[in-house]
Amino acid sequence: MITALNEFEKSLETARFILSKINDKPEYAIVLGSGLGSLVEDINVKLEIPYKEIPNFPVSTVKGHKGSLIFGNLNGKKVLAMNGRFHFYEGYSMKEVTFPERVFWQMGIRKLIVSNASGGVNRNFKIGDVMLIKDHINFFPEHPLRGPNDERFGPRFVNMSEPYSKKMLQVVREYATEKNIKIQEGTYLGLQGPTFETLAEYTMVRNIGGDAVGMSTVPEVIVAKHMDMEVFGISVITDIGTEEFIEEVNHQEVLKAAKAAEPVVRDLVGKLVEKY
Ligand code: HPA
Repeated sequence: MITALNEFEKSLETARFILSKINDKPEYAIVLGSGLGSLVEDINVKLEIPYKEIPNFPVSTVKGHKGSLIFGNLNGKKVLAMNGRFHFYEGYSMKEVTFPERVFWQMGIRKLIVSNASGGVNRNFKIGDVMLIKDHINFFPEHPLRGPNDERFGPRFVNMSEPYSKKMLQVVREYATEKNIKIQEGTYLGLQGPTFETLAEYTMVRNIGGDAVGMSTVPEVIVAKHMDMEVFGISVITDIGTEEFIEEVNHQEVLKAAKAAEPVVRDLVGKLVEKY
């Protein structure tokens, strides 16, 4: 079990294992969200390691559950991509959900890109829109940094004034403007799931300042910021949580909409990695 007391040693051991396999130093870690897995098609893959072969990586109890780390080249940069993430709603502890970020940092990686699918509550959003995550609201019932703090990772009280890198946002914003690619920007509110929200909950999300809501990302970003990593986040609006659209919220629709927006996400992430 990963605890606050052995997290450093375990993540270091795992980092050394991965480094010995890839024999190289990636610059970026990329977390591929639901429906966005085909981003890997743009990666010139050098090595793929299934999660189950990685020491200390959380083990799935779900039959047939897949997931792997993919190392390769993306637009001239070395990247390590997580094809499949660990969600809190699946039953993993917060330390397990965020263990990969600890490992990335131990490997020397300082840039993290996270992607996800989310429900839009901003009335200007449409299904299929791509939202750059400018900020987040943490609504998870448990905090990944709760418990003894390991100063080797970072401070007890973490500054969250710039959770998402302004410089990275600017690079993507400029590229999108130049190429006339429609993007939205907003605040992602993360909560545990696995239920989609009721209309009252979607309305609450909007009223307290969220533009989109989802069940991932926030824990990983908090832990990345604990270690002072630079983070870029991107979200596909796969459904809309308003009175007019709430009946359409289901997993199939989410995956369909995420797939449709994939080329845009691939383009933006690929360009960021290339340019930044
Ligand atoms: N709510 C929460 N998580 C989600 C949603 C949603 O509407 N869409 C995709 N992930």
